[in-house]
Amino acid sequence: MHAAILDRPDAPPRYGTHPEPVATADHELVVDVLAAGLHHLTRAVATGTHYTAAHDGAAHPGAAHPGAAHDGAAAGEHRPRVPGVDGVVRDPDGRVRYVVLDDPRLGTFAERTVIDVRRSVVLPDDVDPVLAAAAMNPGQASWLALRRRAPLAPGAAVLVLGATGSSGRLAVQVARLLGTGRVVAAGRDERRLAALRDLGADDARTLDRLDGAGDVDVVLDFLWGAPAVAALTALLTARTDRARPLTWVQVGSMAGATAELPAALLRAARVEVVGSGFGSVPPRDIVAELPELAAAVARGDLQVQARPVPLADVERTWSERTDDRIVYVP
Ligand SMILES: NC(=O)c1ccc[n+]([C@@H]2O[C@H](COP(=O)([O-])OP(=O)(O)OC[C@H]3O[C@@H](n4cnc5c(N)ncnc54)[C@H](OP(=O)(O)O)[C@@H]3O)[C@@H](O)[C@H]2O)c1
Repeated sequence: MHAAILDRPDAPPRYGTHPEPVATADHELVVDVLAAGLHHLTRAVATGTHYTAAHDGAAHPGAAHPGAAHDGAAAGEHRPRVPGVDGVVRDPDGRVRYVVLDDPRLGTFAERTVIDVRRSVVLPDDVDPVLAAAAMNPGQASWLALRRRAPLAPGAAVLVLGATGSSGRLAVQVARLLGTGRVVAAGRDERRLAALRDLGADDARTLDRLDGAGDVDVVLDFLWGAPAVAALTALLTARTDRARPLTWVQVGSMAGATAELPAALLRAARVEVVGSGFGSVPPRDIVAELPELAAAVARGDLQVQARPVPLADVERTWSERTDDRIVYVP
């Protein structure tokens, strides 16, 4: 079959051929891949730089046992693998499913792959596979954060930090869908921010104007690094009541893998910093949340900018920076 083949972790995958997949364990199925998104996670897992990476750099998104991803390669050795951490597939009974893969060696960037059916959710037959493949991963970022890490009190106000990317745009819509009282979109690009009002943001602010948004209850932080510290400082300083709880959910790190957080900030206001991702949200909780998110995507409640690309173009497009989520179609 045709597939994207990652020969080395430091070079884009090439379009080539791969042996047909075989199901070997209970709950496994060989499925046809209909569409699979190219997410930050996909690249990070492929290159062994994701925080779930284990041993030789193989990573295991959402797995109960990260070490299970080890493929027997010696330390530093890379075996060719097929990237792709999730996707929309058709099972042997003709059902369309969204799946998060358990094993990063044979991914979804292929004509066929093997899934653990327990890590999948059946989608309506008329779902657009490209839109679903584009939305489910960036949609999970805020969905899991708001459902599992910072459940919303009625009327709570949510600020999305880094709202202009795929996950941020979906976070604005997810926050609205899950009953947020007020949604504030924050980012560095004024033009892109303006468009977020049409997606449900009550307020849209550049990063230097956050002092006007001090009284929020939850921050979904896609940035980290110096911009997150500056934002936390501005919001806490501007808070009317510093004893009002603020949950800061660390979701992405587009602006820095580390942040120099002044100790006094954590003492000066009632703020809790938590993370949301594979590990902090256990696999069973992720799987439990997928049906509702998938239903929202299928209903068209969540708008996403998707760009279908033939899988044959994987090498040319792998490193492309684009506003649209690239979705490979085998
Ligand atoms: N934990 C989870 O469950 C989960 C799930 C999905 C994604 N994520 C993570 O969330 C993050 C965002 O993903 P995405 O899909 O939204 O990516 P994306 O579509 O590429 O968007 C990136 C966003 O980051 C902003 N940005 C980048 N560098 C910045 C900087 N130095 N200062 C300020 N803003 C900056 C961009 O702003 P501009 O628009 O101005 O360029 C844009 O808003 C990634 O780290 C991803 O791994 C986490």
